[in-house]
Amino acid sequence: MWSSVVSAALLCLAALPAPAVAAARPTTLSVLSFGAAADGVTDDAEALVAAWRAACRVPRATVLLPSGHRFLVSPVTLQGPCSTRLTLQVDGTLLAPPDMDSWPRSRRPLRWLNFKWLNGFTVQGAGTVDGQSITSLRDSSPADAPHQRSTGHWHSSGAKPTLVRFYSSFNVTVRNIRISNSPRCHLKFDSSGGIKVKNVTISSPGDSPNTDGIHLQNQGRRDQELQHLLR
Ligand SMILES: *[C@@H]1O[C@H](CO)[C@@H](O)[C@H](O)[C@H]1NC(C)=O
Ligand SMILES: *[C@@H]1O[C@H](CO)[C@@H](O)[C@H](O)[C@H]1NC(C)=O
Repeated sequence: MWSSVVSAALLCLAALPAPAVAAARPTTLSVLSFGAAADGVTDDAEALVAAWRAACRVPRATVLLPSGHRFLVSPVTLQGPCSTRLTLQVDGTLLAPPDMDSWPRSRRPLRWLNFKWLNGFTVQGAGTVDGQSITSLRDSSPADAPHQRSTGHWHSSGAKPTLVRFYSSFNVTVRNIRISNSPRCHLKFDSSGGIKVKNVTISSPGDSPNTDGIHLQNQGRRDQELQHLLR
């Protein structure tokens, strides 16, 4: 008797439309609450994806990578469609894995952080997205250092991954973050529109070969707004 009343009440709660709940206050979901180790060594990709999936269902939600922490993540796809106005707040440091070179060739990705099918999405924060590729860039350029063996990562004769890539995404804003040490493109937009990049710092070692800052592919240029880009 009681239990059926209780479960009926729970059903009612569950049936509340999500927008009505979320409209009250934007939801912030820290990856720390989803099991991230945040030690810069353990792979936190699973925690990031879990936080993303939860936030994706809530309008105006924010996935937070808090400051003072280092999050190592293996290559991930963070995909929509999500509720609008989703934000990824990067205040800490997001690190690519340091030894991808040792992975089986078939598992070496073409991109590290892959965002797709998003509409109304923002990446922002005071933090850094670090590809950690300094060593491999030097070592993989035979002209520069023919005698050196590869001691770094990302090194392979095949394709080197793009660090941050957006695919088929619209109304995307990337601002304030720092993106560094990509083996290839730092930031790439493919088949996307309504893009704003503001106050983003992109840096790589001065001797890096072929590392585009921002690469636009398969799209009209007219609606891109690349503002105050610092190099
Ligand atoms: C640009 O980004 C930096 C680093 O996150 C931040 O400290 C600064 O306040 C930003 N400037 C503006 C105008 O938003
Ligand atoms: C982008 O946002 C604007 C304003 O919020 C909206 O009118 C427009 O439809 C959006 N664009 C896309 C492709 O969804």
